[in-house]
Amino acid sequence: MDEFKLPRPELKPENTHNALYPGTFDPITNGHLDIIRRGLCLFDKITIIVAVNVSKNPLFNLEERCELIQECFKDFNGRVAVDYTSGLIVDYAVQHNITAVIRGLRAISDFDYEFQLALMNRRLAPSVETVFLMTGFEWIYISSSGIKNAARFQGNVSGLVPEHVEAALKRKFS
Ligand code: COA
Repeated sequence: MDEFKLPRPELKPENTHNALYPGTFDPITNGHLDIIRRGLCLFDKITIIVAVNVSKNPLFNLEERCELIQECFKDFNGRVAVDYTSGLIVDYAVQHNITAVIRGLRAISDFDYEFQLALMNRRLAPSVETVFLMTGFEWIYISSSGIKNAARFQGNVSGLVPEHVEAALKRKFS
């Protein structure tokens, strides 16, 4: 019954206050920001990890996505960091001794995918837990793809993404 020994002896207390928030972030949206703000009520520090979803072909390259995220957190006193990985999220977590991975849930449709991802991650690294946060009601219908689709045809995405992201989308599709 080793798995029921809590807290786990291998955890260093200082890092139980840190969390990862992984995603493609192509681009970051106000829905992502909502999750990060909620996460900061639970964790001292969140590292946003721009990661690879092999089934996606991003509009913004890795550097652009990281820059767009960094711009959002200039005034957060170092409580939000941005990094990237081309490998597994849980490997990054274990290497940095971080035990919580935040994922946002928007609707029932997210659940099946997130459930599989969380269980696969747990299988790969049992010391890493996935923490699900409910997205604010006003963001449950948005996604990076939806916003890109609207912006591509000059649709108004104001209020759905930060202003500098809106400007970056306009530049991409001008
Ligand atoms: N508000 C609004 N939209 C949100 C949201 C929120 N709170 N949370 C997620 N979304 C949207 C995203 O914009 C994205 O939209 P899109 O599909 O139109 O691009 C969609 O929901 C999926 O979100 P995202 O968090 O970017 O997940 P993902 O499926 O693209 O990527 C990774 C998930 C990157 C974390 C996953 O592929 C991964 O872990 N990759 C690294 C390799 C690995 O460790 N794999 C796991 C082992 S099998």
